[in-house]
Amino acid sequence: MKQVAILISGRGSNMEALCQAAETTDSAYQVCRVLSNRPDAKGLQWASDHGFSTRVVDHRKFTSKAEFEAELNDDLNTAGADFVCLAGFMRLLSANFVQKWRGRLLNIHPSLLPSFPGLVPQQQALDAGVRISGCTVHFVSEDMDAGPIIVQTAVPVLPQDSEATLSKRILTAEHRTYAPALAAVCAGRVFWDGGSKATMSDEAGEPLHHYLDI
Ligand code: GAR
Repeated sequence: MKQVAILISGRGSNMEALCQAAETTDSAYQVCRVLSNRPDAKGLQWASDHGFSTRVVDHRKFTSKAEFEAELNDDLNTAGADFVCLAGFMRLLSANFVQKWRGRLLNIHPSLLPSFPGLVPQQQALDAGVRISGCTVHFVSEDMDAGPIIVQTAVPVLPQDSEATLSKRILTAEHRTYAPALAAVCAGRVFWDGGSKATMSDEAGEPLHHYLDI
């Protein structure tokens, strides 16, 4: 059974989805830690109310990013994490940290990467006039939102969408996308040779590249 730590900064709805999937009988992973860089992250309360181990490593209490990340790394090791999932964790991690967790560090982003990396990707999608957007689960690499894609879910962008309505549709897709991708990584069904592409297979061993919520 693989041990997974989840890093959050706020609401934590993806963290909830990952925790709930971990509670199913055939889960490939357990959640060993929910860690936030913000003491006021809403998701912390949900996690502790549901019996998950929580910890705050407040980045503002460290004089350098290196010290913050050293504490983060120590705690992840103390918790026994095999894999780390970023779930709305809004701190950029350094190359040094990313290299330590290479192939074991996942992120979810609310766009079809490489389109719309960075902040407000849903508004970026609306501004660009795209007809389809979605979410991406990927391994974290040194460059922001640029690591090898594990799986993507596509959703429509509707003519009347606001940032709020599109964000909600994408978030619903995120909740259905992250846990299966994490389970596949934990079960050894995601192959990544360190290059720019990763491949994921379903439980029957068939390639699984995407989900369509269209
Ligand atoms: C999610 O939409 C996640 O994809 C996004 O922040 C939100 C967190 O919501 N992450 C990023 O934009 C990272 N670049 P949550 O706290 O309810 O999971």
